[in-house]
Order: sequence, then C-alpha cells, then structure tokens
Amino acid sequence: MTTIAHLTDFHLLEADHDRRRGAARWRLRYLSFGRPIEAAPRRRRALAALIEARRSGADHLVLTGDLTEDGTPAQFEVLAAVLAESGWDPARVTLVPGNHDAYTSGDAWERALLGCLRPFAATSGRGATVALPGAVVTAVSTAMAQPVTRSAGAIAARELSRVASLAAGTRRSGDALVLAQHHPPLRHPIGAMQWLDGLINSGELMALLHEHDHLHVIHGHTHRENDAPVRAGAPPRIFCAQALVDGPSPLRVYRVRHGRVLSERTSVWSGASALAMA
Ligand SMILES: [Fe+2]
Ligand SMILES: [Fe+2]
Repeated sequence: MTTIAHLTDFHLLEADHDRRRGAARWRLRYLSFGRPIEAAPRRRRALAALIEARRSGADHLVLTGDLTEDGTPAQFEVLAAVLAESGWDPARVTLVPGNHDAYTSGDAWERALLGCLRPFAATSGRGATVALPGAVVTAVSTAMAQPVTRSAGAIAARELSRVASLAAGTRRSGDALVLAQHHPPLRHPIGAMQWLDGLINSGELMALLHEHDHLHVIHGHTHRENDAPVRAGAPPRIFCAQALVDGPSPLRVYRVRHGRVLSERTSVWSGASALAMA
C-alpha cells in the first residue's frame, strides 16, 4: 500500500534577514505580521518535521508551498539545505510553490529549480509527475506574480489541460491521481476574498474534481488542517495540513487504496523529534 506524507507552509527565512533595508525589510515585516521573525526556530522545526516524515515510512512526500517567506534566493538556499540534511531522496519528494515563494520575483521558483533545488526538478518542475504503486502524484503550480497585499493563486490554462489529460489516463489505469498544489480548489464564500486570497480558476478545477472520482487535491495556504469532500456527504478528496510555521503537529500521512486517498492521523512529535527541536 502506498503512503504519502504531507507538510506545508514552512515560511523559511534567511539567517541574516536583519541586514535587510528599505522595501525588502518592509516586505518581510508585512508578510510575517503576527509571527516572530526568527530564522533558526523555523529551520529547526522544518528539519524536525522532515525527519519525522521520513520516520513515518511514507513512500513519498509532498510539500505544498509557501516554503519560503518571500522567495529570496537565500531562502531557497535554506530550503535546499534543510531538505538535504533531512536525508529525503529528491526522487521521492514533490515540491510546489505558494504565493509567498513568488513575492520577490514571479520566476523565483523556476530559477530555484534550475539552481539550488535542481535535484527536485524532475519531481517538482512544470508538468512533473511521479508514478507510485496505485497513485500518480503531480506538481501543480498556483503561484503568480502579484503584490504582497494579495495572496491569490492561478493555474495556467495549459496546466489545467495537462491535468485533464492525466485524469483521463489515470481513470483508465485505476490509479488515484493526486494534485499537489498550494491553493485550495474550493471557492471562498465571500467574492472579494476569492479575488484577494483564492484560486482564481477554481471553477475549472472543481469541474474536473466532479468529473473524476479518483482525482484528489493535497494543498496548503489556509494554514489549517482540513478534509473536504467534492460533493456533500461524500468521502473527502481535498486535504490540507496545518502550516508548519504555526503549529506543533503539522505532519499528515495519507494511504492510497483502490484509487482513493484516505487520511491517516499521525502523532508527529515523537521523543526523537522533540530532541531535534530543542
Ligand atoms: Fe502560508
Ligand atoms: Fe499561501
């Protein structure tokens, strides 16, 4: 049976962020509002969670965006270093960008995948898929260039077409299809919030979810653990984990069985990881 571990929203910082001046300093203060701007604890927490995810024995790991606070090259270097230190084989990890990863530059993620995150390009680049027994995991970017005062996402039209083709193919094979993405596919109940913080083309993705019962979404962005069905009363197919930057128990593990992704509650902070956090 295939298992998938899920962590999200690391919001990693560079160690020397205190040296920032001007707009870059303001941007970091704005984006970290309500949270201590402390690089080392965030890095330690990320490493401990990644190690805990490895110890869970999961076959694959997905990290669903906002992996950095504002997407600077130095923050991507921190992410690459933490991932390397954790010992995860890059072939078993799918990374996707979030809105925070694009605040410094709209193409920062692509450049990181050509640079320090290059070991993850095959699993996490545009159109990347990973075939597991009974499941196909694919990275779907929702990141777009926008000011820090907006936190929306969008999936490119060609990406949606690719997902539709993949859904048709995996439906025939009987595999579960898992979209790893940052923004949730469900609309905000308030229209203005949908524009400000939602997935702009959520309607198209929800149509695919209604069409294909083997299609699932594992996402971040809301910072809250949640399981949601596509249809009222049906089993959940949309899963979110608590943000690692906010919570003490963010790791989720899912089992894949007969074309379905099922959530599994996991006790995260074992004694070993508690030591790693100290
Ligand atoms: Fe976030
Ligand atoms: Fe986000």
